[in-house]
Amino acid sequence: MKVFVTGGTGFLGNHLVKSLIKNGYEVKTLVRSEQKAEKLLGSTGATFVKGDMNDVDAFAEELRGCEVLFHTAAYFRETFSFGKHWPDLERINITNTIRLFELAKEYGIKLIIHTSSSNTIKKRADNTPSNECDTRKPEDAMTLYAKSKIIGDKQIDKFSARHSLPVVTFLPGWMMGPVDAAPTSGGKYILDYLHKRLPGNVNISIDIVDVRDVADAMVAAVTRVNHSERFLVAGHHVHLKDLSKELEKVTDIPSPKRSIPVPIAFTLGWIVDRVSAITKKEMAISVNGIHEIRECKRFSSEKAKNELGITFRPLHDTLQDATDWFTENSNALLTHPD
Ligand SMILES: NC(=O)c1ccc[n+]([C@@H]2O[C@H](COP(=O)([O-])OP(=O)(O)OC[C@H]3O[C@@H](n4cnc5c(N)ncnc54)[C@H](OP(=O)(O)O)[C@@H]3O)[C@@H](O)[C@H]2O)c1
Repeated sequence: MKVFVTGGTGFLGNHLVKSLIKNGYEVKTLVRSEQKAEKLLGSTGATFVKGDMNDVDAFAEELRGCEVLFHTAAYFRETFSFGKHWPDLERINITNTIRLFELAKEYGIKLIIHTSSSNTIKKRADNTPSNECDTRKPEDAMTLYAKSKIIGDKQIDKFSARHSLPVVTFLPGWMMGPVDAAPTSGGKYILDYLHKRLPGNVNISIDIVDVRDVADAMVAAVTRVNHSERFLVAGHHVHLKDLSKELEKVTDIPSPKRSIPVPIAFTLGWIVDRVSAITKKEMAISVNGIHEIRECKRFSSEKAKNELGITFRPLHDTLQDATDWFTENSNALLTHPD
């Protein structure tokens, strides 16, 4: 079966392409840089389609002949840097995502598998794990990125009401794992640990999921789901101090002992944002990033486990594979977007 993947050179996308090919699918993937695609996916046999979500109509005809569209591309990591991001978030994550889905229908796609985020889900008052029904209102979003994903999901609901083409939406937790070649925030956190740049642990907790488990869940959806549905794939709930302890176990690098109060973390984030504005570099810490995780939300991935038959590998294995990969590839990391 022929499938089309957007964001194939991304962290999730490159694992998704590899998992699809391992499972016998023929993959076409949208890439912004053929050089990056060659480096990451050159040996996979995937076909590259050069294009950009800023101009969906320019590449959409390539969807013809494919049965499934996997949409992982998003305006995402840029929002962890200081700057005005809303016009890009709205265009890429909302308007042009729906345009892509409309054209997918026109070109004969039978199933869309989309990537949203667990940060579209609200925290429950009693702190029991939130599920797919605990949707957050756009005005309650902690960041503009989250707001774009919440509004995007609502537009997808309207798309589903208009058309019979099913859209299966995945809501991943914080993804970590190997081959984070142009490191995302999870990869940057691990790199900061490896380079002993973490000033301490903030007293917060978060759901961490192995990127390969998210990719496998998306592949499982092709044969197991034939109607519009939403799945949280959030992995394990982890306190940052326990994440540090686990990283200490897999690297033998002592974990930072200092505990940083949340208001101090925000002050540090504010300073880092100003540095990022001057240097134009993405940083691992930012006010936006701290906003995303300070709620210590818990998520239930039971629906994905039950309906897709997936399991989450132990955090230890994820961190072992991620730190091994970063250690072996420290000289080959890519910049974003190239
Ligand atoms: N990482 C996480 O913890 C996390 C958690 C929840 C949800 N998500 C969602 O998961 C999806 C994948 O994210 P990721 O972690 O794999 O991040 P990523 O590595 O930054 O991947 C994003 C992909 O989108 C592509 N892209 C961005 N803007 C584009 C544009 N204008 N046109 C075409 N392609 C474009 C990027 O292309 P280049 O390769 O050329 O840069 C990249 O391949 C996103 O939808 C994100 O919102 C991520």
